[in-house]
Amino acid sequence: MFTTVLSHQNSAVSQRENRIPFDLVGTIQALKQELNAVILAHYYQDPEIQDIADYLGDSLGLSQEAAKTSADVIVFAGVHFMAETAKILNPDKLVLLPDLNAGCSLADSCPPAEFARFKAAHPDHLVVSYINCTAEIKAMSDIICTSSNAVKIVSQIPADQPIIFAPDRNLGRYVMEQTGRNLVLWQGSCIVHETFSERKIIQLKMEHPQAKVIAHPECEPAVLQHADYIGSTTALLNYALKGEADRFIVVTEPGIIHQMQKAAPHKEFIPAPPQNQCACNECPHMRLNTLEKIYLAMKNRSPEVTLTPEIQQAALHPIRRMLEMS
Ligand code: 13P
Ligand code: SF4
Repeated sequence: MFTTVLSHQNSAVSQRENRIPFDLVGTIQALKQELNAVILAHYYQDPEIQDIADYLGDSLGLSQEAAKTSADVIVFAGVHFMAETAKILNPDKLVLLPDLNAGCSLADSCPPAEFARFKAAHPDHLVVSYINCTAEIKAMSDIICTSSNAVKIVSQIPADQPIIFAPDRNLGRYVMEQTGRNLVLWQGSCIVHETFSERKIIQLKMEHPQAKVIAHPECEPAVLQHADYIGSTTALLNYALKGEADRFIVVTEPGIIHQMQKAAPHKEFIPAPPQNQCACNECPHMRLNTLEKIYLAMKNRSPEVTLTPEIQQAALHPIRRMLEMS
Protein backbone atom coordinates (compact mmCIF):
# COMPACT_ATOMS: atom_id res chain seq x y z
CA MET A 1 0.00 0.00 0.00
CA PHE A 2 2.77 2.38 1.02
CA THR A 3 4.68 1.56 -2.19
CA THR A 4 1.58 2.20 -4.27
CA VAL A 5 0.99 5.63 -2.72
CA LEU A 6 4.65 6.53 -3.18
CA SER A 7 4.71 5.43 -6.79
CA HIS A 8 1.52 7.48 -7.44
CA GLN A 9 3.24 10.49 -5.89
CA ASN A 10 6.40 9.89 -7.94
CA SER A 11 4.48 9.59 -11.14
CA ALA A 12 2.56 12.81 -10.29
CA VAL A 13 5.91 14.60 -9.76
CA SER A 14 7.35 13.25 -12.98
CA GLN A 15 4.16 14.17 -14.87
CA ARG A 16 4.44 17.71 -13.49
CA GLU A 17 8.15 17.88 -14.37
CA ASN A 18 7.53 16.59 -17.88
CA ARG A 19 4.58 18.90 -18.55
CA ILE A 20 4.79 20.20 -22.10
CA PRO A 21 5.06 24.00 -22.30
CA PHE A 22 2.50 25.96 -24.27
CA ASP A 23 5.13 27.60 -26.49
CA LEU A 24 6.96 24.41 -27.38
CA VAL A 25 8.97 25.84 -30.28
CA GLY A 26 9.98 28.95 -28.29
CA THR A 27 11.02 26.79 -25.32
CA ILE A 28 13.12 24.52 -27.56
CA GLN A 29 14.85 27.60 -29.04
CA ALA A 30 15.61 28.88 -25.52
CA LEU A 31 16.98 25.47 -24.45
CA LYS A 32 19.15 25.46 -27.56
CA GLN A 33 20.84 28.68 -26.37
CA GLU A 34 21.12 27.46 -22.78
CA LEU A 35 22.76 24.13 -23.76
CA ASN A 36 24.72 25.47 -26.75
CA ALA A 37 22.94 22.74 -28.69
CA VAL A 38 22.41 22.11 -32.37
CA ILE A 39 19.41 20.25 -33.79
CA LEU A 40 20.29 18.01 -36.73
CA ALA A 41 17.32 16.48 -38.56
CA HIS A 42 16.74 14.05 -41.41
CA TYR A 43 14.21 14.71 -44.19
CA TYR A 44 12.05 11.80 -42.99
CA GLN A 45 11.11 13.63 -39.78
CA ASP A 46 7.67 15.17 -39.29
CA PRO A 47 7.39 18.61 -40.96
CA GLU A 48 7.22 20.44 -37.60
CA ILE A 49 10.57 18.91 -36.62
CA GLN A 50 12.12 19.78 -40.00
CA ASP A 51 11.01 23.37 -39.44
CA ILE A 52 12.95 23.80 -36.17
CA ALA A 53 16.16 22.08 -37.31
CA ASP A 54 19.44 24.01 -37.50
CA TYR A 55 20.55 21.63 -40.20
CA LEU A 56 18.39 19.37 -42.31
CA GLY A 57 19.92 16.83 -44.66
CA ASP A 58 20.59 13.32 -45.88
CA SER A 59 22.83 10.87 -44.05
CA LEU A 60 26.01 12.20 -45.63
CA GLY A 61 25.17 15.86 -44.98
CA LEU A 62 24.22 15.05 -41.40
CA SER A 63 27.52 13.27 -40.72
CA GLN A 64 29.49 16.08 -42.35
CA GLU A 65 27.63 18.56 -40.18
CA ALA A 66 28.20 16.45 -37.04
CA ALA A 67 31.91 16.28 -37.89
CA LYS A 68 32.27 20.06 -37.91
CA THR A 69 29.84 21.32 -35.28
CA SER A 70 31.14 23.47 -32.42
CA ALA A 71 27.99 22.92 -30.32
CA ASP A 72 28.34 21.16 -26.95
CA VAL A 73 25.14 19.16 -27.38
CA ILE A 74 23.86 17.46 -30.53
CA VAL A 75 20.12 16.79 -30.60
CA PHE A 76 19.59 14.21 -33.32
CA ALA A 77 16.18 14.13 -34.91
CA GLY A 78 16.67 10.96 -36.90
CA VAL A 79 17.28 7.29 -36.14
CA HIS A 80 19.74 5.53 -33.87
CA PHE A 81 22.50 4.79 -36.41
CA MET A 82 22.58 8.48 -37.40
CA ALA A 83 22.91 9.68 -33.79
CA GLU A 84 25.48 6.95 -33.18
CA THR A 85 27.54 8.23 -36.12
CA ALA A 86 27.42 11.73 -34.60
CA LYS A 87 28.61 10.26 -31.27
CA ILE A 88 31.45 8.32 -32.96
CA LEU A 89 32.60 11.62 -34.48
CA ASN A 90 32.12 13.49 -31.19
CA PRO A 91 32.90 11.14 -28.29
CA ASP A 92 33.14 14.01 -25.79
CA LYS A 93 29.84 15.65 -26.70
CA LEU A 94 26.40 14.88 -25.39
CA VAL A 95 24.38 13.34 -28.23
CA LEU A 96 20.64 13.16 -27.54
CA LEU A 97 18.20 10.97 -29.45
CA PRO A 98 14.64 11.99 -28.47
CA ASP A 99 13.42 8.36 -28.66
CA LEU A 100 16.00 5.60 -28.21
CA ASN A 101 13.61 3.16 -29.89
CA ALA A 102 14.03 4.98 -33.20
CA GLY A 103 15.95 2.15 -34.86
CA CYS A 104 16.22 1.06 -38.50
CA SER A 105 15.03 -2.15 -40.14
CA LEU A 106 18.05 -2.15 -42.43
CA ALA A 107 20.50 -1.87 -39.52
CA ASP A 108 18.55 -4.64 -37.74
CA SER A 109 18.89 -6.90 -40.80
CA CYS A 110 22.64 -7.19 -40.18
CA PRO A 111 23.34 -8.71 -36.73
CA PRO A 112 27.04 -8.30 -35.77
CA ALA A 113 27.73 -11.98 -34.88
CA GLU A 114 26.36 -13.23 -38.23
CA PHE A 115 28.18 -10.51 -40.10
CA ALA A 116 31.48 -11.45 -38.39
CA ARG A 117 31.04 -15.01 -39.74
CA PHE A 118 30.19 -13.68 -43.22
CA LYS A 119 33.28 -11.48 -43.17
CA ALA A 120 35.49 -14.37 -41.98
CA ALA A 121 34.24 -16.43 -44.96
CA HIS A 122 35.62 -13.73 -47.33
CA PRO A 123 39.01 -12.97 -45.76
CA ASP A 124 40.54 -11.12 -48.75
CA HIS A 125 37.55 -8.77 -49.18
CA LEU A 126 37.39 -5.09 -48.29
CA VAL A 127 34.21 -4.24 -46.35
CA VAL A 128 32.20 -1.25 -47.57
CA SER A 129 29.18 -0.69 -45.32
CA TYR A 130 26.22 1.56 -45.88
CA ILE A 131 25.92 4.01 -42.98
CA ASN A 132 22.52 2.42 -42.12
CA CYS A 133 24.14 -0.14 -39.82
CA THR A 134 25.06 -0.41 -36.16
CA ALA A 135 28.33 0.88 -34.68
CA GLU A 136 29.44 -2.77 -34.28
CA ILE A 137 29.11 -3.33 -38.04
CA LYS A 138 30.92 -0.04 -38.72
CA ALA A 139 33.71 -1.22 -36.44
CA MET A 140 34.08 -4.32 -38.66
CA SER A 141 34.14 -2.24 -41.87
CA ASP A 142 36.92 -0.62 -43.89
CA ILE A 143 34.90 2.22 -45.41
CA ILE A 144 31.41 3.58 -44.74
CA CYS A 145 29.26 5.03 -47.50
CA THR A 146 25.84 6.61 -47.84
CA SER A 147 23.32 6.53 -50.66
CA SER A 148 24.81 9.76 -52.04
CA ASN A 149 28.44 8.61 -52.25
CA ALA A 150 28.30 4.79 -52.55
CA VAL A 151 29.03 4.79 -56.31
CA LYS A 152 31.80 7.36 -55.91
CA ILE A 153 33.46 5.44 -53.06
CA VAL A 154 33.32 2.00 -54.70
CA SER A 155 34.70 3.54 -57.93
CA GLN A 156 37.81 4.69 -56.03
CA ILE A 157 38.69 1.15 -54.87
CA PRO A 158 41.23 -0.67 -57.12
CA ALA A 159 39.42 -2.88 -59.67
CA ASP A 160 41.16 -6.09 -58.54
CA GLN A 161 40.17 -5.64 -54.87
CA PRO A 162 37.21 -7.89 -53.96
CA ILE A 163 34.51 -6.10 -51.94
CA ILE A 164 31.77 -7.05 -49.48
CA PHE A 165 28.91 -4.55 -49.57
CA ALA A 166 26.55 -4.49 -46.55
CA PRO A 167 23.82 -4.35 -45.41
CA ASP A 168 21.47 -3.13 -48.19
CA ARG A 169 21.23 -5.52 -51.13
CA ASN A 170 19.22 -3.02 -53.21
CA LEU A 171 21.76 -0.21 -52.89
CA GLY A 172 24.46 -2.84 -53.45
CA ARG A 173 22.83 -4.01 -56.71
CA TYR A 174 22.47 -0.40 -57.85
CA VAL A 175 26.19 0.25 -57.14
CA MET A 176 27.08 -2.90 -59.10
CA GLU A 177 25.10 -1.64 -62.08
CA GLN A 178 26.63 1.83 -61.93
CA THR A 179 30.25 0.74 -61.43
CA GLY A 180 30.31 -2.57 -63.32
CA ARG A 181 31.92 -4.10 -60.21
CA ASN A 182 31.01 -7.45 -58.74
CA LEU A 183 30.20 -7.00 -55.05
CA VAL A 184 29.49 -9.69 -52.48
CA LEU A 185 26.18 -8.53 -51.04
CA TRP A 186 24.78 -8.92 -47.55
CA GLN A 187 21.06 -9.63 -48.04
CA GLY A 188 19.57 -6.82 -45.96
CA SER A 189 16.78 -4.43 -46.89
CA CYS A 190 14.59 -1.57 -45.65
CA ILE A 191 10.94 -2.34 -44.81
CA VAL A 192 9.86 1.10 -46.03
CA HIS A 193 11.53 1.05 -49.44
CA GLU A 194 10.47 -2.54 -50.08
CA THR A 195 6.84 -1.59 -49.63
CA PHE A 196 6.47 0.30 -52.91
CA SER A 197 4.47 -1.56 -55.49
CA GLU A 198 5.65 -1.68 -59.11
CA ARG A 199 2.06 -2.14 -60.26
CA LYS A 200 0.86 1.00 -58.46
CA ILE A 201 3.78 3.05 -59.81
CA ILE A 202 2.97 1.96 -63.38
CA GLN A 203 -0.66 2.92 -62.72
CA LEU A 204 0.42 6.36 -61.42
CA LYS A 205 2.66 6.86 -64.46
CA MET A 206 -0.31 6.15 -66.72
CA GLU A 207 -2.44 8.67 -64.81
CA HIS A 208 0.35 11.29 -64.93
CA PRO A 209 2.33 10.64 -68.13
CA GLN A 210 4.32 13.91 -67.78
CA ALA A 211 5.47 13.14 -64.25
CA LYS A 212 9.09 12.18 -63.54
CA VAL A 213 9.58 9.17 -61.28
CA ILE A 214 12.28 9.88 -58.70
CA ALA A 215 13.39 7.05 -56.43
CA HIS A 216 15.77 6.21 -53.59
CA PRO A 217 18.29 3.41 -54.38
CA GLU A 218 17.01 1.38 -51.39
CA CYS A 219 13.96 0.49 -53.55
CA GLU A 220 13.78 -2.90 -55.26
CA PRO A 221 15.10 -3.26 -58.85
CA ALA A 222 11.53 -3.82 -60.18
CA VAL A 223 10.64 -0.32 -58.93
CA LEU A 224 13.97 1.34 -59.82
CA GLN A 225 13.63 0.30 -63.47
CA HIS A 226 10.74 2.80 -63.78
CA ALA A 227 12.72 5.70 -62.30
CA ASP A 228 13.78 8.71 -64.36
CA TYR A 229 16.20 9.61 -61.60
CA ILE A 230 17.71 7.66 -58.67
CA GLY A 231 19.47 9.31 -55.75
CA SER A 232 19.76 10.04 -52.04
CA THR A 233 17.14 12.22 -50.39
CA THR A 234 19.23 15.38 -50.96
CA ALA A 235 19.85 14.38 -54.59
CA LEU A 236 16.11 13.77 -55.16
CA LEU A 237 15.31 17.18 -53.65
CA ASN A 238 17.89 18.95 -55.85
CA TYR A 239 16.72 17.13 -58.97
CA ALA A 240 13.09 18.07 -58.32
CA LEU A 241 13.95 21.74 -57.74
CA LYS A 242 16.35 22.30 -60.62
CA GLY A 243 14.64 20.62 -63.56
CA GLU A 244 11.94 21.93 -65.90
CA ALA A 245 9.51 19.18 -64.89
CA ASP A 246 6.70 20.26 -62.59
CA ARG A 247 5.19 16.94 -61.51
CA PHE A 248 6.99 14.12 -59.72
CA ILE A 249 6.14 10.66 -58.40
CA VAL A 250 8.29 10.44 -55.29
CA VAL A 251 9.38 6.89 -54.43
CA THR A 252 10.86 7.24 -50.98
CA GLU A 253 9.65 8.11 -47.46
CA PRO A 254 7.16 10.97 -47.98
CA GLY A 255 8.74 13.19 -45.28
CA ILE A 256 11.01 14.62 -48.00
CA ILE A 257 7.95 16.07 -49.79
CA HIS A 258 7.67 18.77 -47.11
CA GLN A 259 10.96 20.31 -48.32
CA MET A 260 10.12 19.80 -51.99
CA GLN A 261 6.77 21.52 -51.58
CA LYS A 262 8.26 24.35 -49.49
CA ALA A 263 10.97 25.11 -52.04
CA ALA A 264 8.75 24.64 -55.11
CA PRO A 265 5.12 25.36 -54.16
CA HIS A 266 4.11 25.56 -57.83
CA LYS A 267 5.24 21.96 -58.50
CA GLU A 268 3.29 18.81 -57.70
CA PHE A 269 4.78 15.93 -55.71
CA ILE A 270 2.87 12.67 -55.63
CA PRO A 271 3.93 10.20 -52.93
CA ALA A 272 4.31 6.67 -54.27
CA PRO A 273 1.74 4.49 -52.51
CA PRO A 274 2.62 1.32 -50.58
CA GLN A 275 1.32 -2.15 -51.53
CA ASN A 276 -1.59 -2.09 -49.10
CA GLN A 277 -3.92 0.59 -47.76
CA CYS A 278 -1.50 1.43 -44.94
CA ALA A 279 0.86 4.23 -44.02
CA CYS A 280 3.82 1.87 -44.39
CA ASN A 281 5.62 4.19 -46.81
CA GLU A 282 6.31 6.27 -43.65
CA CYS A 283 9.33 5.09 -41.66
CA PRO A 284 7.92 3.89 -38.31
CA HIS A 285 11.30 4.49 -36.65
CA MET A 286 11.88 8.02 -37.90
CA ARG A 287 8.32 8.98 -36.98
CA LEU A 288 8.82 8.02 -33.32
CA ASN A 289 10.46 11.41 -32.76
CA THR A 290 8.14 14.28 -31.88
CA LEU A 291 8.58 17.94 -30.92
CA GLU A 292 7.51 17.00 -27.38
CA LYS A 293 10.21 14.33 -27.12
CA ILE A 294 12.81 16.78 -28.46
CA TYR A 295 11.83 19.26 -25.76
CA LEU A 296 11.97 16.59 -23.02
CA ALA A 297 15.34 15.26 -24.23
CA MET A 298 16.81 18.78 -24.08
CA LYS A 299 15.27 19.55 -20.72
CA ASN A 300 16.36 16.23 -19.15
CA ARG A 301 19.62 15.93 -21.13
CA SER A 302 18.50 12.38 -21.84
CA PRO A 303 18.12 9.90 -23.55
CA GLU A 304 21.76 9.96 -24.52
CA VAL A 305 23.53 7.82 -27.14
CA THR A 306 26.53 6.03 -25.63
CA LEU A 307 29.21 3.69 -26.98
CA THR A 308 32.11 1.75 -25.53
CA PRO A 309 35.48 3.44 -26.26
CA GLU A 310 36.60 0.31 -28.21
CA ILE A 311 33.63 0.41 -30.60
CA GLN A 312 33.79 4.19 -30.88
CA GLN A 313 37.45 4.10 -31.94
CA ALA A 314 37.10 1.14 -34.30
CA ALA A 315 34.06 2.70 -35.99
CA LEU A 316 35.70 6.11 -36.37
CA HIS A 317 38.32 5.05 -38.92
CA PRO A 318 35.88 3.83 -41.67
CA ILE A 319 33.70 6.93 -41.17
CA ARG A 320 36.74 9.20 -41.53
CA ARG A 321 37.71 7.35 -44.71
CA MET A 322 34.23 8.03 -46.09
CA LEU A 323 34.46 11.73 -45.27
CA GLU A 324 37.87 11.94 -47.00
CA MET A 325 36.67 10.05 -50.10
CA SER A 326 33.36 11.98 -50.49
P1 13P B 1 19.72 9.19 -47.25
O1 13P B 1 21.14 8.78 -47.48
O2 13P B 1 19.09 9.65 -48.51
O3 13P B 1 19.62 10.14 -46.15
O4 13P B 1 18.92 7.89 -46.84
C1 13P B 1 18.77 7.55 -45.51
C2 13P B 1 17.75 6.53 -45.30
O5 13P B 1 17.56 6.05 -44.22
C3 13P B 1 16.98 6.08 -46.42
O6 13P B 1 16.05 5.17 -45.96
FE1 SF4 C 1 15.98 2.57 -41.90
FE2 SF4 C 1 14.34 2.32 -43.95
FE3 SF4 C 1 13.70 3.95 -41.95
FE4 SF4 C 1 15.69 4.59 -43.64
S1 SF4 C 1 13.53 4.42 -44.11
S2 SF4 C 1 15.73 4.74 -41.41
S3 SF4 C 1 16.55 2.55 -44.04
S4 SF4 C 1 13.91 1.73 -41.83
